[in-house]
Amino acid sequence: VDPPKWIAWSDYRELPEPEMRARAAAFYAEMRRRRSIRRFADRPVPSELIEDCLRTAGTAPSGANCQPWRFVVVTDPAVKRRIRWAAEAVERQFYEKLAGREWLDALAPLGTTPQKPFLETAPYLIAVFAERQGTGPDGRPRKHYYVTESVAIAVGFLLVALHHAGLAALTYTPRPMGFLGEILDRPAHEHPMMIVVTGYPAEDATVPELARKRLEDFVTFFF
Ligand SMILES: Cc1cc2nc3c(=O)[nH]c(=O)nc-3n(C[C@H](O)[C@H](O)[C@H](O)COP(=O)(O)O)c2cc1C
Repeated sequence: VDPPKWIAWSDYRELPEPEMRARAAAFYAEMRRRRSIRRFADRPVPSELIEDCLRTAGTAPSGANCQPWRFVVVTDPAVKRRIRWAAEAVERQFYEKLAGREWLDALAPLGTTPQKPFLETAPYLIAVFAERQGTGPDGRPRKHYYVTESVAIAVGFLLVALHHAGLAALTYTPRPMGFLGEILDRPAHEHPMMIVVTGYPAEDATVPELARKRLEDFVTFFF
């Protein structure tokens, strides 16, 4: 293994403290406007916008820098329809058999049902897969570390980037999700994690009213 090459971190910019405070507050104000949307407009979205948001996702930190993510971007109406059909089939099973009372109670405030029309209406479905292994420089399989954590962080970056760009998104997780790898022809070592549905919100989109925990309810300052 070659020793690492260290370079000066010239991208770092120290800011005056008042500016840091203002930026942190402004970013929070921006992020607290983000909501998951379940009704999308069928208006097209420029592909460059999605590409830049995916580039942002690709800047996420990852265990041992494995970057174990694969984003499959779907816009073809026929493929979206297949994904919707497959998803609605597992959703019916989920609601009728798998979920159980407690899970259904947790979902009740969201008003979700087995019908997922957004999978066809939204211009972009971004299927997210976790690569359990990669390929080393010698072409042999290489183990990946902290795969789930890394992919989840990359999806977080993606959601922030989409919101920042002015798009709406939904993190969608049908269970079981094996159909996604089949429809999108992914190799067996790629594990489907979720579908990030994105586009413009429908004009009549509504969101469930929900309360966010206050800082003191989810942060412990251990001094
Ligand atoms: C890992 C994860 C899985 C989710 N799965 C679904 C899903 O399958 N269907 C859905 O309608 N919403 C799903 N959501 C969206 C959540 O319901 C939503 O984020 C939550 O209710 C908070 O609402 P907000 O995103 O508007 O703040 C998921 C969110 C996350 C983070």
